Amino acid sequence: MKPFSQRMPRLGTENAFSVINKAKKFEKEVLAPKGEHLVYLQIGEPGFDTPKNINDAAIEAIKKNMTHYTATPGIPELREAVAKYTSRNACENYDAEDVVIVPGGKPVMFYMLNALIDPGDEVIIPNPAYPIYGSVTEYLGGKVVPIQLKEENDFNFTAEDLKQLITDKTKLIIINTPHNPTGGVLTKKLIEELAELAKKHDLWVLSDEIYDRIVHEGEHFSITNVEGMPERTVVLNGCSKTYAMTGYRIGWAVTKNKDMAKAIEQLACNDTSCTNTMAQYAALEAVTGPQEPVEEMVKEYKKRRDLLHGLINDIPGMHCKLPKGAFYLMVNVKEILNKLNISAAKLCDMLMEEAHVLILPGTCFGLFGDDFVRFSYVSTEKNIIEGAARIKKYIESIYK
Ligand SMILES: Cc1ncc(COP(=O)(O)O)c(C=O)c1O
Repeated sequence: MKPFSQRMPRLGTENAFSVINKAKKFEKEVLAPKGEHLVYLQIGEPGFDTPKNINDAAIEAIKKNMTHYTATPGIPELREAVAKYTSRNACENYDAEDVVIVPGGKPVMFYMLNALIDPGDEVIIPNPAYPIYGSVTEYLGGKVVPIQLKEENDFNFTAEDLKQLITDKTKLIIINTPHNPTGGVLTKKLIEELAELAKKHDLWVLSDEIYDRIVHEGEHFSITNVEGMPERTVVLNGCSKTYAMTGYRIGWAVTKNKDMAKAIEQLACNDTSCTNTMAQYAALEAVTGPQEPVEEMVKEYKKRRDLLHGLINDIPGMHCKLPKGAFYLMVNVKEILNKLNISAAKLCDMLMEEAHVLILPGTCFGLFGDDFVRFSYVSTEKNIIEGAARIKKYIESIYK
């Protein structure tokens, strides 16, 4: 067979998926025969059902035979609604033509990077971070320039750190606030400084705001609230996290830059033609319908955050800050790793095999995650209590 393209081996993946496959196999082959099970505290998706009114809107769309192609950038009503929705965070109003509806938040990364990156171009990416930003950058021959999110700064970086990394080849900065995997929120001051640097060096910004409604302290601040930024920024957002709609695959790119909106639309046309039609009608109901279910879910996440935070800080060798957003806890386990002379990945394997709890090593999210493990707190209170108790018992046995 003739070989794959040279770029194919550069494409990474989301290691979280391979960890889950390994865990499911372990649970089926080793635990199930003994009547035991794993506690899953690694999951990066909402622990609630999609609100009924949203599901009903999808069903209604099918009943009305809304089962054909739509225009590539989406149905006009949804583009209009998303423009309004996104404008609430921005310094100017978006219009329907500034919005491209795509199948999930992820494609926005793929399309924007494809539109911008030539071999050798540099992209500044927080580290640790969602792995797909770096994977796609490298696939395209771009260079990932990591900027460390520091625990002591509530998982922020500084404008000074950023200045040091900008070169003539820098084309794009990616930010994600609230942040996966740390739960950190970038400060308004940092975002404003970053915006000034982006303008000064004529840089693009990809602002991943998929967790913008899941903020536990203070308010979400978008870089598009800074004057001059909507035309050099693509906002990535969607229904997955906010409305517990991960399987619907609805996301959107929003930008005041007409050429970028066109490029994203053209890439989407080549890729998927359009986004699932009934899912778009469900999204329309999500964005324009009652918002109480979102408020309820976020209130519940906050309760679970506080619960897990307290339980984790009671385990020897583990400590974590109280995260301000998203639904993750980035837990510092350096003391345990040093004591046992193991990696975070090995610790997670041990916790799966011995304590029967699944969490993710920080290294799933980049090199600077090497002293950490990531918990998610979307699971039920019962599971959170059970999982933390199992880990505590196991770690205490090591410390004895
Ligand atoms: C930071 C971040 N951005 C984007 C996504 C992708 O969202 P979607 O499932 O809508 O593609 C995720 C999913 O986990 C995420 O954590």
